[in-house]
Amino acid sequence: SVEERLTDLLSRMTLEEKIGQMMQLDARADLDELVGVSLVGSLLHASPERNIRAQQLVTQTRLGIPLLMADDCIHGHSFWPGATIFPTQLGMAATWDTALVEQGARATAVEVAATGLHWTFSPVLCISRDLRWGRVDETFGEDPHLIGELGAAMIRGYQGEGLTDPDAVLATAKHFAGYSETQGGRDASEADLSRRKLRSWFLPPFERAVEAGARTFMLGYQAIDGVPVTANEWLLNDVLKGEWGFDGTLVTDWDNVGRMVWEQHVAATYEDAAAVAVSAGNDLIMATPKFRDAALAAVGSGRLTVAQIDDAVTRILRLKFELGLFENPRLPDPERQRQVIGSAPHTALNLEMARRSLVLLRNDGTLPLLETPDAAPSAPRTIAVIGPNADDPHAQLGDWAGASGQVDWMPDGHPRETVLTVLDGFRRAVPESWTITHARGADIGDLAEDPRGVFPDGQPRPPYFQAASPDERMIAEAVEAATSADWAVVVVGDTVALAGEGRSTATLELQGAQIALLDAVVATGTPTIVVLVQSKPSVLPESALGAAAIIEAFNPGMQGGLAVAELVLGRIEPTGRLPITFARHAGQLPVFYNQLRGQHGDRYADLTQDPVFAFGEGLSYSRVEYSDLRLDDSEVTAADTIRATVTLTNVGERPSTETVQVYVTDTVTSVTWAERELKAFRQVTVPAEATVDVSLQLPASACSLVDAAGDRIVEPGDFELLVGTSSRLADLQSAPFRIVTAA
Ligand code: IFM
Repeated sequence: SVEERLTDLLSRMTLEEKIGQMMQLDARADLDELVGVSLVGSLLHASPERNIRAQQLVTQTRLGIPLLMADDCIHGHSFWPGATIFPTQLGMAATWDTALVEQGARATAVEVAATGLHWTFSPVLCISRDLRWGRVDETFGEDPHLIGELGAAMIRGYQGEGLTDPDAVLATAKHFAGYSETQGGRDASEADLSRRKLRSWFLPPFERAVEAGARTFMLGYQAIDGVPVTANEWLLNDVLKGEWGFDGTLVTDWDNVGRMVWEQHVAATYEDAAAVAVSAGNDLIMATPKFRDAALAAVGSGRLTVAQIDDAVTRILRLKFELGLFENPRLPDPERQRQVIGSAPHTALNLEMARRSLVLLRNDGTLPLLETPDAAPSAPRTIAVIGPNADDPHAQLGDWAGASGQVDWMPDGHPRETVLTVLDGFRRAVPESWTITHARGADIGDLAEDPRGVFPDGQPRPPYFQAASPDERMIAEAVEAATSADWAVVVVGDTVALAGEGRSTATLELQGAQIALLDAVVATGTPTIVVLVQSKPSVLPESALGAAAIIEAFNPGMQGGLAVAELVLGRIEPTGRLPITFARHAGQLPVFYNQLRGQHGDRYADLTQDPVFAFGEGLSYSRVEYSDLRLDDSEVTAADTIRATVTLTNVGERPSTETVQVYVTDTVTSVTWAERELKAFRQVTVPAEATVDVSLQLPASACSLVDAAGDRIVEPGDFELLVGTSSRLADLQSAPFRIVTAA
């Protein structure tokens, strides 16, 4: 058995070999040095050639223990030219479709496995509450329930039926925990979280990941209430490994151990940091080459025991046995790559994911442009496709798609022909007699050298963002194109320079010359459709908010441009719903829907707190009315299932796929609690002019809160069940019920 083989192997290992297994190093460094001379357990960011060379090198070591090869393939295989790049996690979340997200992760696993990787650092289960944070695109949005459900689906997709399946890869639940709760949106800053807040909202998606079988967890970088997560014994050992029984591997983030010395200044030496990190429960140490000597010294000085090292090594080796790497190190397989990378079924699935991820936020009736999906248009028409993101493959794929120089073996990202931009999409999707014109209209800006040169310690400063200024000639071209067209489609948003680790933004406004462009195009009077290709919700100018239509596309992946064109034309129905709230102004942050009650003063003196678009919102080309919400029982115990039915009537002429959202309000609570929380959702397609009854259920135990003592309990009493089309009260039907016993 795996456990017997583990015990046997461990008994034959020296302390140096054990500590070597705890090292995960950057494969872009000198491999002979990394793998051949020293001992190492895992590599990340390996090019295919380096992958093969490294696995060969370990066969020459005394025990020949295979390497775990890992990378960040978080919405498709980021680092393989032409691999299928799906919408970002935020885009996937807008589908609210767990089955589709699971299929997407499966396709990614198949492609990733073919390239000799065993492990992807995905999904991200952080909760996006501060939209200035640079990694909002990597998340499933703001709601713990939605994040938990989609995260579990993604984990199932990656890991499949079991790790012995050659198409399975290890999933990673990250970043454990509270990493997104930054100060001012700045990446990796101290998180102001109590244990009660963690248990209330930030930990539940991770607990769900353990239930779903995630075999690895990755830490955040930050500290919580003064304790770096790397040193947080309560979080790692007590909660994750103890309470939740996680027996997989816990990996740090990039040089977390070193950061305790050089960044957070909570450890004087690497020996101190290594001792603290291992004692807190870390198993695999990412990108800290000094860990080897530090851990050896810590064992020598008695600060770490061999039993602690053995526990960490056991967890790492267990994964290698579970994957069967001792029998088959799963090297890159060129034949398999030819079959699966960017295959036709994966491309079709990607198009479906992109279609389902688009959220129609506003429509004055201009859309769809075709009356029926197959309508033969009566007259030739012209669409002007305008904007900096109309034909930018990098912006469309987003972060972690090889475009921001993360790896050296694909400096230009994915081949241009693998990406269908919005411009490409319209050229393909419009009827033959129609004309597509194009003007870029504006630039956004780019990273530039920081003129200040180096930091005081001599380290180079990272490039910083410089916004573009409006260019009158470009805007005039766009105005000319819009004026001569029947419709203008203006594709604005952000760039990969404004998203990612360390790339938070102080503002949320559209950058560069984009506002000037929107103002000018909308002022032409040509009906204007605003398409947002962006990593996260931006603050929209009045001209965009008053345009004929607004479509949120996030970073919609390789097929995204075609999906946008199909939606605008009406060849498909809009089905996406927002997984995250849009602010009117960055000063409104945080603007997430499930805020605590009892905030005396729910508005500013100079601005409402009402968001411009709320969590759960999204239109269709039809109109579905919700009525007659009824409960099977208005009194239940905490052990019961709450069952309800709601009637949906499609009063429009097109079918509509509804995401029926179920929220719960606990009327009186012993602690301040969220006004309402999403507890369930169900997708149903209602044919045109049809009426359907939708049955809903949720366990009464889901109506829980975390009390002042930090325990999750159900408090008996009165509740409201709220069912409808978004988190806004005006969009929800309600029915009272009572829970009569505590759980
Ligand atoms: O997986 C990532 C993590 O999300 C952020 N820091 C680097 C890791 C490895 O690339």
